[in-house]
Amino acid sequence: MTILGFETSFDDTAAAVVRNGTEILSNVMASQVDLFKDFGGVVPEIASRAHIQMLLPVMHRALSKAELTLGDMDALAVTYGPGLVGSLLVGVSVAKGLSYALGLSLYAINHVEAHIYAPLMTNPELEFPHICLSAAGGHTSLYLVKSLGDYQMLGGTRDDAAGEAFDKVSVAMGKGCPGGRAIEQLAAQSDQEGPSFPRPMMKSGDYDFSFSGLKTAVVRYLETPEGRQSSLEATAAAFQSAAVDLMVSKTLRAARNSGARHISLTGGVACNGYLYEQLKARCERKHLRVFRPPASLCTDNAAMVAGLAFHKHRLDSPAGLELNADPGLGLGKTNPTLLVDTPRQGSRKTRPRTP
Ligand code: KG4
Ligand code: ZN
Repeated sequence: MTILGFETSFDDTAAAVVRNGTEILSNVMASQVDLFKDFGGVVPEIASRAHIQMLLPVMHRALSKAELTLGDMDALAVTYGPGLVGSLLVGVSVAKGLSYALGLSLYAINHVEAHIYAPLMTNPELEFPHICLSAAGGHTSLYLVKSLGDYQMLGGTRDDAAGEAFDKVSVAMGKGCPGGRAIEQLAAQSDQEGPSFPRPMMKSGDYDFSFSGLKTAVVRYLETPEGRQSSLEATAAAFQSAAVDLMVSKTLRAARNSGARHISLTGGVACNGYLYEQLKARCERKHLRVFRPPASLCTDNAAMVAGLAFHKHRLDSPAGLELNADPGLGLGKTNPTLLVDTPRQGSRKTRPRTP
């Protein structure tokens, strides 16, 4: 079954052709990064207008790269939430129009679910249940993935997403937005001990994240005399180390308390090599395995949308023409209390109390 997928939830215009859920025939993305260089972030109105201009050319490129035409498609798929409402509407409207004109079924895809699916596309060894850390510019969430379509949300960010914190720190350092890659590259060049930044909610006893306080601490530090004098590389490394420590610690705790042996990493922040290496190193000690897709499937892309739609075709009915964008769309049952800390063998909690 060959599916043409569209992704326009934020600032990337993407289309892809995927056969039977995993065979990627094309995966095309037009970035809007250059449009926002002078703004320090995405301007929703400009993003929507750019999607309108780019989506059909991107679709034609995806079809020609796959050496196929619209007539060869068996179904269509589109991200309908969460994201920026204007951006989502462009993809949803184009997909609905094509579905009606061509008589093709249209599958409505949740952007976060598509990110969770991405590691499964390239890692056939990744087993259910597994823990998925999906860290991007718009969300940072921990899920227990029991099977496709059955997700338990363990935690999410209470304020900024991890990618957003990378981006804002990067802007404060004069390195532009998006800045995750720039911060990673700066941090890799650090050869000095940097400051120690706070790790908010590290010991909160749940699976939630907070990156806003960490970001503010870095921005304030950069304004102090000490911060102005210290090397940007060392400050970037100290920030990255705190952000990664938060994500790795909560992910490991979720794995320990769920009993899952496999962990997947996805979303734009998953491109971060330091995050991947730290997670892998700490998992290896506990005989846990970590899986991550290639960078082109970590960041926003339409292949994960078209791939997931193949399974929606088996599990769900297609969307009707009443489909609308849903900017606040959630995913999965939220019940983190099911996963409470289990006392470790030999820890003080397991020893009998002395009167
Ligand atoms: O998944 P994505 O493309 O879009 C959203 O769904 O948000 O993620 C984009 C985010 C940006 O905030 C970007 O700075 C971050 O991913 N990112 C990184 C790296 N590459 C991209 N963050 C940290 N390290 C990286 N190497
Ligand atoms: Zn995303």
